[in-house]
Amino acid sequence: MSSLYVALDFPEVNLALALAAQLDPQSCGLKVGKELFTRGGPALVRAWVDQGFDVFLDLKFHDIPHTVAQACRAACDLGVRVVNVHASGGRAMLDAARHAVPQSPGAPSLIAVTVLTSMNQADLAEVGITRPLAEQVQLLAGLAHDSGLDGVVCSAFEARAMRALFNQPNSVIITPGIRPVGAALDDQSRVMTPFDAMAAGATALVVGRPITLAAQPAAVVRAILASLL
Ligand code: C5P
Repeated sequence: MSSLYVALDFPEVNLALALAAQLDPQSCGLKVGKELFTRGGPALVRAWVDQGFDVFLDLKFHDIPHTVAQACRAACDLGVRVVNVHASGGRAMLDAARHAVPQSPGAPSLIAVTVLTSMNQADLAEVGITRPLAEQVQLLAGLAHDSGLDGVVCSAFEARAMRALFNQPNSVIITPGIRPVGAALDDQSRVMTPFDAMAAGATALVVGRPITLAAQPAAVVRAILASLL
């Protein structure tokens, strides 16, 4: 699987297509989130899969178990490389997702979101969670692990602890909030360099604007990959 996923956070499908056309499927994968998927639909994802890109379908499914299982099956049919669900959907939902995504070569990795990094302790309290945030992350990651999920998407600052839990050769720890040395932070506050994130236990990185806003996106991809060696 790719060690670098480019977050295609574009408001228009054509902009995403133009950026992906500059990238090499041998060098990086593509992360498709809710905005782009809602605009571009499955055909867009299928086209990139057909071009050879690893696609991380970042739709963070969270619903009743049957619905999530069926959504996961649809993701498998699209041929994506990674699909994710909210661990807070609970054990039955996670088990149903695991059941829907085969653990066989060619099937996507199934990973969990724990606590969204946009949420702080006060936000958790407002939805009735008074446990310390870090403990809530551990609890949800443990639930995902118990259900046999392959890993998590998390902050690079959580990667070490997550890697201790998901410690199999095929475990997947994907970290956004990555900035190459000297890159603009944009709206990210706690960032790590690509090298440090991988050293902390990430198995793949998500990088958006440092690549998508660059004059030469493919050159930035090459520089990031070179910095990992
Ligand atoms: O442009 P940038 O590199 O900041 O993009 C990061 C991508 O990772 C975005 O798609 C963002 O939504 C996603 N993400 C994140 N932090 C998280 C989870 C996802 O930045 N904790």
